Amino acid sequence: MSGGSGRRPPVVVAANWKMHKDPPATGSFFREFRASTAEGGPRVLVFPPAASLAAAVAARPPGVSIGVQNIHWEDKGAFTGEISAPIARGAGASHALVGHSERRHLFGESDADVARKMAAALRHGLVPLLCVGETLREREAGRVEEVVLRQLDRALEELPGARADFLIAYEPVWAINTGRTATPADVEAAHGTLRGRLRERLGAAAADVSILYGGSVKPANARALMAADDVDGLLVGGASLDADQFADIVEAARSR
Ligand code: PGA
Repeated sequence: MSGGSGRRPPVVVAANWKMHKDPPATGSFFREFRASTAEGGPRVLVFPPAASLAAAVAARPPGVSIGVQNIHWEDKGAFTGEISAPIARGAGASHALVGHSERRHLFGESDADVARKMAAALRHGLVPLLCVGETLREREAGRVEEVVLRQLDRALEELPGARADFLIAYEPVWAINTGRTATPADVEAAHGTLRGRLRERLGAAAADVSILYGGSVKPANARALMAADDVDGLLVGGASLDADQFADIVEAARSR
């Protein structure tokens, strides 16, 4: 369990739609989405593609927060194709994914970029959801702890002082979009490592940081993953595109 104090981080269930759903499909999703988002249940976050952000902000039910999948670290400037934290905020986003493995591995985002993005998000009042996770090769080489701790430490490097107003997602790269899910034991080990480092850095405030698991989460495995120690929520890609499946996962997260 998350420490002896009894204080536990909020439960958060997040949908990463990646490059799926235009504005009309975004509206349809929210008309079909039936999970209860009342106070006291899991907090629900949805990360649509940037061009569907306004549609999501307009169509979401109360209690659902909307975020962007990526931000640039500068506030403004000649960066064609990029979105800054102030622009995302102005468009209605309250959260930002930072360092998703597809950004790191397909678009060459470095730990240093991730650190600057974390700082930019917090500077402008966007809650960052920092993604960390090892590749299959790193896992097979026994380097899971080293990799996730390096990613966490580097991501927090540019923050002014100790901040606990962010979220983490542990997403083993080999489990994303592959149908392979980490076992609850794998997840517990990685989440425990991350929680330990948060305690070293933040003391009691470590209990304010929700650590989500992501990687082929489905309605069928959500409950078992939520039962693992130090799992405070789920980051869902493929299964979040279907309003019923995502609602089932939100319901499963209520079980913690
Ligand atoms: P997946 O994606 O659920 O489709 O594996 C998770 C993610 O990339 O955040």
